[in-house]
Amino acid sequence: MSTPIPSPPAIPFLGHIHTIDKQLPIASIRLLAQKYGEIFQLNVLGDTRFYISTYALLNEVCDDKRFEKKINANLLQARGAVSDGLFTAQPGEENWGIAHRLLMPCFSPTGILDMYDGMMDVVSQLTMKWERFGPQDCIDPAADFTRLTLDAICLCAMSYRWAFQRMCKEEPHPFASAMSDFLVESGLRANRLSIVQAMMPSTNAKYEEDRNTMTKLAQDILDDHRAHPPKQPDLISRMVSGIDKEAGRGLPDSSIMANLLTFLVAGHETTSGMLTFATYYLLKNPEAMRKLREEIDTMVGDRPPSKKDVNKLPYLLAVMRESLRLGPPASLRTTSPKEETILGGKYTLGKGATINCNIYAIHRDPAVWGDDAELFRPERMLDGKFEALPPNAWQPFGFGMRACIGRAFSWQEVQLTMISIFQRFDLVMRDPTYELELKQTLTIKPHNFFIHAIPRKDRPRLLHIPSGPTAQATRGEEKRSAAFATASKDMKPLYVLYGSNTGTSESFAQRLVSAAPSHGFRATMETLDKVTEYLPTNGPVLIVTASYEGQPADNARHFVNYLENIKASDAFKGVNYSVFGCGNRDWTTTYQRIPKLIDDILGGHGANRLAPRGEGDVSGAEFFDTFDQWENTEYGTSTEEAAPALNIKTVSTGTARAERLRQRDMGLGTVVDTKVLTASGAPIKMHIEFKLSEGATYRAGDYLAILPKNPDRIVHRAMARFGLQEDMEIELDSSSPTGYVELQQPARTRDLDILLQAKNSKASKAALKDLKANYTNKVFGPRLSVLDILEDNKAIDLPLSTFLTMLPAMRIRQYSISSSPLWDAEHVTLTLSVVNAPARSGRKEKFLGVASTFLAGLRPGDKVQLAVRAASAAFHPPQDLTVPLVMVCAGSGLAPMRGFLQERAEQKKAGREVATSLLFYGCRAPGEDSSTWEQMGIVDVRVAFSRCDVERAKGCKYVQDRIALDKEDIVKSFRAGAKYYVCGSSKMAAGAKQVFIRFVQETKNLDEAAATELFTKGLQDRYATDVFE
Ligand SMILES: Cc1cc2nc3c(=O)[nH]c(=O)nc-3n(C[C@H](O)[C@H](O)[C@H](O)COP(=O)(O)OP(=O)(O)OC[C@H]3O[C@@H](n4cnc5c(N)ncnc54)[C@H](O)[C@@H]3O)c2cc1C
Ligand code: HEM
Ligand SMILES: Cc1cc2nc3c(=O)[nH]c(=O)nc-3n(C[C@H](O)[C@H](O)[C@H](O)COP(=O)(O)O)c2cc1C
Repeated sequence: MSTPIPSPPAIPFLGHIHTIDKQLPIASIRLLAQKYGEIFQLNVLGDTRFYISTYALLNEVCDDKRFEKKINANLLQARGAVSDGLFTAQPGEENWGIAHRLLMPCFSPTGILDMYDGMMDVVSQLTMKWERFGPQDCIDPAADFTRLTLDAICLCAMSYRWAFQRMCKEEPHPFASAMSDFLVESGLRANRLSIVQAMMPSTNAKYEEDRNTMTKLAQDILDDHRAHPPKQPDLISRMVSGIDKEAGRGLPDSSIMANLLTFLVAGHETTSGMLTFATYYLLKNPEAMRKLREEIDTMVGDRPPSKKDVNKLPYLLAVMRESLRLGPPASLRTTSPKEETILGGKYTLGKGATINCNIYAIHRDPAVWGDDAELFRPERMLDGKFEALPPNAWQPFGFGMRACIGRAFSWQEVQLTMISIFQRFDLVMRDPTYELELKQTLTIKPHNFFIHAIPRKDRPRLLHIPSGPTAQATRGEEKRSAAFATASKDMKPLYVLYGSNTGTSESFAQRLVSAAPSHGFRATMETLDKVTEYLPTNGPVLIVTASYEGQPADNARHFVNYLENIKASDAFKGVNYSVFGCGNRDWTTTYQRIPKLIDDILGGHGANRLAPRGEGDVSGAEFFDTFDQWENTEYGTSTEEAAPALNIKTVSTGTARAERLRQRDMGLGTVVDTKVLTASGAPIKMHIEFKLSEGATYRAGDYLAILPKNPDRIVHRAMARFGLQEDMEIELDSSSPTGYVELQQPARTRDLDILLQAKNSKASKAALKDLKANYTNKVFGPRLSVLDILEDNKAIDLPLSTFLTMLPAMRIRQYSISSSPLWDAEHVTLTLSVVNAPARSGRKEKFLGVASTFLAGLRPGDKVQLAVRAASAAFHPPQDLTVPLVMVCAGSGLAPMRGFLQERAEQKKAGREVATSLLFYGCRAPGEDSSTWEQMGIVDVRVAFSRCDVERAKGCKYVQDRIALDKEDIVKSFRAGAKYYVCGSSKMAAGAKQVFIRFVQETKNLDEAAATELFTKGLQDRYATDVFE
């Protein structure tokens, strides 16, 4: 009996039009595949379309006895311009056969090698442009690669040259824009009622205009060819004068034009997408980038790549294959059964049915690519592994007779381009936190992705490019430039480099820069990744950096990878440096791993350590003091020195600040709903729903980064203390990174020194001395801020400018997303614990957490600066739905688990088999209701309540107690292959881990050390932790 093919709910008459994202259909199709599994169907205006998403089904439809290419609704529309050209020809159309046979020789390996000179010519225009525009130029690689590939297909296949040459022009070639618009509109038309189409006169006129622009270029090329036939016959020559032996005739002019346009379209859009995907994946994977560079340096060196290099660089080929696997520009191809058939042994499909092969998902099928299918790992294509793949598993170029004719062309073009680029440039992302966004026309490619190309083997070129999330969020670059301007050119150079995700190291770096002129230095500040391989020798290099689970911050990954592979013992001879590390002792085994590693490698390879590494523990009282001490060693000054001056002026109220915020790279999200989850009187927990900014996507387990504003109450306190009117804004004119500062950080001992130097009364001086003498107990522990101290000691006469320089820049805060894109791909929810409690200092003012208060005060419709940040690869639910999850969390650590369960619930609702998971949840008292998911069999919830004694908790106060109680179920789930997820405070995470280790100890009869080792090794890929603080 045939198995019904699942389908999402539909609207009468219109079917599933609403189900597919108009701008990015592939995103909707991907999510539907995640939800419905190997096959699903959609009905668009009466046209039924099937989508397959597994290797097994793809392999079956690759049987060309049973299936053939189908010209789907989109391509049918595009035929308006490219009629019976190769790509859009119907199976059996005679002109397809003629063109195919005439043109195949042009695309043979030798035919393509003959195009070497033309390709190198075009590639060198690109590298010249990047060199000329310099490292500051913000490059849109998709746009530049499109210029390159369009030039290449015109020059190499059509001998058409001089009309292009637009590499340095700002705007794209009119053909490229017309083509892109034409293809997008073709796609939309395929999903539009004809009556609606008829009522869109301006859209229709534009469509016609675009078609004419495209056709005119093809006509110009053909006319030019006829007027000036090239010496070497090219693709057009073969179409114009070739006679096909089998048909006994050549191609009519209409078909030549159709094929010219086909080659212009198919010959550039896909290859530029491939180059952009490869660039993106290499920049996200420093190890792969380094290996590729090493291969190019070793095998090609400084000479231009020659014909002999083509297909000779194995790692480059592996990078290209892996890029096409994860980013197949032609992400859907359509096929159709020649007769009614049974697919996968159970799905009946009628003759002529439309089967869309979802190559994007199939290239990630764990059955072929394993659990790490989402990771970019060129190694899986090396050493015979590519050749050993099951048939049809890697299919970016289509299949059979209708597979890509231009594969060898693009293969050679991409190799020459990538070798030439990496010989000359270090590429860096403009925003290292960028996560892949897609744009779709006929093909897909990365969107909103920008890079800088820094010439290699040169003097260091340090730039002012925003890179960390904070820099990005605060657009400090104008301010920094101002700082540099005030530093005299005669001063000695100083280089401040940082690696930072949440802004602490960056704000320390900024402090160093601000202080530099007063010590006779002209400082330049940059992220570590911007200086890979060029540590300067003409001035001290000060490095401030953090670690994340023992790994570098996002904007230091390339640098660290580079260091880890340094061989020459004197590689850093002449470099004078010192390192300050920001870390947290809660990460016991990887505390300060990255700063230490950088310090060791530099010192061990010939660099001169100016001062011992500074080690700041954010969880300790001395964090800021440690930095101050290290900074003073660097500059040889004492902490008693005055704070650097800052020019400020007050300006009237205005929207300057808000407008500046709105220009950030972070997107603007909109609040949709807010709900308090807790009973009155209990510490507040909230559920907040946002609509993401356009184009933003997420996975269950990811984070939302929020740029908060200080709570009004605290700002008013500061203004009142300095006698400012409430309707004033302050404009900073200095090297301070931002006008957005943290007002509640504990004062540092250095701040106390600065306060002591201000005009004081006897009493205030004595109070300050007392605070200094008892710093840990009276300042750091109770988190007494500079503002608190100023309020308590009215006699301290501190200028506002000095106060502002004492404050760190506002940090972004991260929140685990508590929803799944299968619930809603454009919306996310947060589960928030609001920090609002009597201050630890005992002062009467309540302590209000900056970001949580900001979030708690939001109302539907409010706009918020936010961005999705990817979680570590391990912290996502497994694709295999038969794998149970064991989730351990407390408080708002429930957030990601809620997202995981929501995802599995959506999959179950779609008719899929889902394993039952275990959720261990600890909180004060019963809160969010999970009974629906329990009834669905998605999850079995085990609770622990610290402030409430109810039956369900079985006397367990903490989540660790509950795990211990339910040992048998944990062991059972382990045997069933479960994956473990832990989320919440570091204390809770450590407690849970201890219980698990104890289980290992008891089950295997081991001592603690051996059990820990076994636990760590045995659960390497199955145990993921996410710690809040
Ligand atoms: C990866 C990650 C995921 C996270 N996910 C979530 C999530 O899903 N939900 C969630 O709610 N949070 C989450 N957090 C925590 C969140 O990022 C913030 O740290 C939290 O909301 C507090 O930020 P805030 O700006 O409100 O407080 P801040 O202004 O930053 O103040 C917090 C600081 O004040 C201290 N403090 C707290 N109470 C007092 C008091 N009474 N008196 C004096 N000092 C006090 C704290 O010890 C802490 O050092 C996550 C954190 C990380 C790193
Ligand atoms: C990375 C680059 C490329 C990719 C990923 C790619 C992908 C594809 C795919 C998947 C198909 C099959 C479509 C289907 O089954 O409906 C195809 C067909 C085709 N491609 Fe490519 N392509 C690339 C580069 C090129 C280039 C450089 C050219 C031209 C020089 C080209 C010309 C064509 C043509 C003419 C067809 C239709 C072949 C036929 O049906 O006879 N492609 N391509
Ligand atoms: C998810 C996470 C993982 C962390 N891992 C480590 C670690 O392995 N070692 C360490 O010393 N500190 C670790 N920390 C602490 C950070 O390095 C520390 O908070 C630092 O100040 C952050 O600097 P930044 O704001 O410049 O990014 C971690 C923090 C978080 C949130």
